[in-house]
Amino acid sequence: MSATYDVAVIGAGPGGYVAAIRCAQLGLKTVCIDAWQGASGKPALGGTCLNVGCIPSKALLESSEQYAHLQQGLGEHGITVKNASLDVSRMLARKDKIVDKSTAGIAFLFRKNKVDSKPGTARFVRAGDHCVLEMVNGAVREEITARFVIIASGSIPAALPLFPVDGERVVDNAGALGFQEPPKRLGILGAGVIGLELGSVWRRLGSEVTLFEPHPAFLAMADTQVAGEAWKLFTKAQGLTIKLAAKPTSLQVGKNGVSIEYQDAEGTQRFECDKLLVAAGRVPNTAGLNAEAVGIKRDARGFIEVDEHCRTALANVYAIGDCVRGPMLAHKASEEGLAVAERIAGQKPELNYATIPSVIYTAPEIAWVGQTEQALKAAGTVFRKGVFWFMANGRAQALGDTHGFVKVLADDQTDRILGVHMIGPRVSELLGEAVVAMEFAAAAEDLARICHAHPTLSEALHEAALAALGRPLHQ
Ligand code: FAD
Ligand code: NAI
Repeated sequence: MSATYDVAVIGAGPGGYVAAIRCAQLGLKTVCIDAWQGASGKPALGGTCLNVGCIPSKALLESSEQYAHLQQGLGEHGITVKNASLDVSRMLARKDKIVDKSTAGIAFLFRKNKVDSKPGTARFVRAGDHCVLEMVNGAVREEITARFVIIASGSIPAALPLFPVDGERVVDNAGALGFQEPPKRLGILGAGVIGLELGSVWRRLGSEVTLFEPHPAFLAMADTQVAGEAWKLFTKAQGLTIKLAAKPTSLQVGKNGVSIEYQDAEGTQRFECDKLLVAAGRVPNTAGLNAEAVGIKRDARGFIEVDEHCRTALANVYAIGDCVRGPMLAHKASEEGLAVAERIAGQKPELNYATIPSVIYTAPEIAWVGQTEQALKAAGTVFRKGVFWFMANGRAQALGDTHGFVKVLADDQTDRILGVHMIGPRVSELLGEAVVAMEFAAAAEDLARICHAHPTLSEALHEAALAALGRPLHQ
């Protein structure tokens, strides 16, 4: 069997499904091939993000935050709740329902936009004016011919050879989203984004959580002032144990638990826990594409090599999302998908990588866009900074959530905003304004002169911009 298309998209994660929808909207006959199977063994669109990433983790973060809030956060409101109890299976069922609804939503959008959706694993057979792909789904084999191919095959958890995941005692993100009860002691290898988000979930539900991070600095990719504040809140207030400069070296899995050894400044240490989450980064999922055989290049780590427009070594093959350079983020994958679809249709879109936002959904949340203070210092850029603490924000006080601050970094000469860094309540939602400002090359004064509703958390951004001009009003 053989079918011919204008565009074949490999992968239906947030990169691939968005690219496929946009291609179809632009009048291109489009097929999207995706290998993901849900827990029931049925095809499930949406990739890592919808199935075992962004969406289920945020569902559990929300549930666990509600539980923590009930237990600790209502006393000062004069509300006492007796006999709050935890039903983890119901919490997981809610999460699964959200995932099912989201993945079904992609199937609906494919039908609506007339994208052909094919479950199966695709690989390149031939390249040329038209590329030929082979798609395998169980016993079914199909050949697909397309003028253009968009590779959006995403990423998988980085395997640590000394710490093999068995899905039982030693798990990856998928396993840690499905613990049937809070493990009494949860060990986590890697104090990165997944470690902190999923560590927060199980800590709030009652686990003792210990993270092991070989790097000596905490959250090295974030602004150091934000990382310092996060460290205090996560370790002192929330009780996460985070061991920095601690390199895990060996694993023993027993019937009743897991024992690991790690090296720190004092030598070899031992740690015992009930479950171990391996969250030591992710690697591109490109091994099975037969890419090199048709002339597509991959780098030493397996990322598909692309130019600034996501074009591979072949003029009619593009690659987007986690399988190419840049941050492994769903919105980055989607924006690349949009841009590539429009480029294939003859348009000239440009994606501004300098304004891709980052968010860590801990409590408080961490969010930033642009350059960090340490990066600006290292580059010798002369800048001004304005910091405003949520403690002095009326809405944060009313919410009873006053931790953290907003920081605006602006060029000393031009006043152009170079970076905005936040830690505090719902800052993921405040970040959008900073992204828009930077995208429009705004100055700190532009933000300072915009009227912000009162009382809102967004006033903290307004005040931080005023502070960058040396004239804060409320502190
Ligand atoms: P993926 O989502 O990985 O999708 C790739 C798809 O391609 C998969 O369905 C895969 O099965 C399929 N595929 C692979 N090879 C083939 C093949 N040969 N043939 C057919 N199909 C194939 N990012 C955020 O921005 N915000 C978050 O809050 C966030 N939270 C996360 C939480 C967790 C626990 C994890 C693990 C990740 C999180 N991420 C988050 C990262 C985000 O999930 C990824 O950046 C995003 O999913 C990448 O999208 P993608 O389309 O490139 O790839
Ligand atoms: P990460 O890169 O954020 O963190 C991995 C951590 O593991 C690093 O701090 C690293 O130093 C450490 N590490 C490396 N080798 C190790 C070892 N042998 N033992 C112990 N620790 C080790 O990667 P993570 O947390 O796995 O997440 C993968 C990616 O998924 C992120 O980089 C991010 O792009 C994406 N993601 C995004 C989220 C968001 O946007 N909110 C949420 C979760 C994931």
